[in-house]
Amino acid sequence: MLKTIPHSEQIFYVGADDKTLDLFESQYPVPDGVSYNAYVIRDEKTALLDTVDPRATNQWLEQVTEVLDGTAPDYLVISHMEPDHAGSIRAITERYPDMTLVGSAKALGMLPQFLGDMPGNPTRTVKEGETLELGSHTLHFVMAPMVHWPEVMVCYESGEKVLFSADAFGKFGALDTDQPWTDEARRYYLNIVGKYGAPVQTLLKKAAKLDICAICPLHGPVLTGDLAPYLEKYQTWSSYAPEEKGVLVAYASIHGNTAQAAALLAERLKALGETVVLLDLSRCDMAEAVAQAFRFDRTVLAAASYDGGVFLPMEEFLLHLQYKAFQKRTIALVENGSWAPCAAKKMHTLLDTMKDLTVLEQTVTIRSAVKPGDESALLALADAVHQA
Ligand code: FEO
Repeated sequence: MLKTIPHSEQIFYVGADDKTLDLFESQYPVPDGVSYNAYVIRDEKTALLDTVDPRATNQWLEQVTEVLDGTAPDYLVISHMEPDHAGSIRAITERYPDMTLVGSAKALGMLPQFLGDMPGNPTRTVKEGETLELGSHTLHFVMAPMVHWPEVMVCYESGEKVLFSADAFGKFGALDTDQPWTDEARRYYLNIVGKYGAPVQTLLKKAAKLDICAICPLHGPVLTGDLAPYLEKYQTWSSYAPEEKGVLVAYASIHGNTAQAAALLAERLKALGETVVLLDLSRCDMAEAVAQAFRFDRTVLAAASYDGGVFLPMEEFLLHLQYKAFQKRTIALVENGSWAPCAAKKMHTLLDTMKDLTVLEQTVTIRSAVKPGDESALLALADAVHQA
C-alpha cells in the first residue's frame, strides 16, 4: 500500500522494518528491530532517496515499483554509502540503467569499492549548496562529513520544508514499535555517531538556518510537529554535555561480591535522592551501558582485579567509552582484589586516555567480600559522589 510521509502527497516512504536481525552492525542488539528508511519524491522528475539494506531489497523494490507506477525514476540520491542504505544500489541500477546517480564526490568514489565496478548509469557529483530541481520540489545538498562516514550529505527539500537527515536523528526500533524516541535514539546516536560530536555540531549549525517542518532520517520515525526537543537532544549529545543529573553504577563482578558492593552504593545514592541506573557489565547490552554513561553526569565503576589488570567486561566498557570520546564527567572507583588489588590502577590508566574527566581520589578497595568496614567506606563514597 502506498505510504506518504505525514502532511505530504508527493513524498513517499518506501523503507522496511527488520525484526529478525540479531545485532545491528554486528554489535548492537535490536530487540524491537530496526527500520531501513528510504523515500521517493514524485514530481515532474522523480527522485529515489537512498536504498535499503540487502536484507530488505525485495520489499523495497516492491514498494518503489508501486510508487513509480510504471514510470522510471530520474535520480537516485545517495546520501550515505554504508550498506544498510546503499546495499540495494546494484539491484536498482540494473533495473533502471538510465537513472542518474547523485552523490558527493566521496560517495560516488566509494561506489565501485562496494560494487566491484561502477554501474553504467550516468552520475552527477554534487557539492555544498547545489540544488536539484524536481518540479515543485527542490533538493538542496548539505554536506555532512563524518555524520557518520566521510561521504555523507543531507538534503533539504525546500518545497515542503523537509530535511532528509541521513543517519542523524535516527533510532533503533522498527516503525511499528510504540516507544518514546529518546531512549533508543540516545543508544543509537552515542554508539554509532558519538565519536563525531564536532561534525554533528557543524551540521546542527547548518540546520539552524533552515525552516524545517519534518525530518526524515534513515532509521526510525519521520519527525514532525515541534522539532525543538529532538534538536536539543542532538545539541546536548554532540557537545558531550550530560543530559541530566544522575549516576550510572556499572560493575564487573566475577563471583558476586563486587556486585554486592555496587548494589549497596547504588541503594545509598537512591536514598540520597539520586536517579541511579545499576548495570552488570558481564550481562547487559554494552551499548546501553555506554548510552547511560553519557546520559548522566556521574559514573561509579566497580570491578574485580583480574590477571594483573581489571576484569575484562570493565576493560571492554572503558574501551567503548574511549572510542566514543567519553568526556566531561565525574567518575568514582571501587575495586576488589583477594591478593593484589589492581583494578583501580588499570581503570585509572584507561580513564586517563579520555578528556576532561574528574576521578574522585576517594577509591574503595574491597578484599574479597564486603565486610562492615567496607560498607561504611562504600556509603562514604556514595556521599562523595552525591556531593560531586
Ligand atoms: Fe545507518 Fe551509517 O548507516
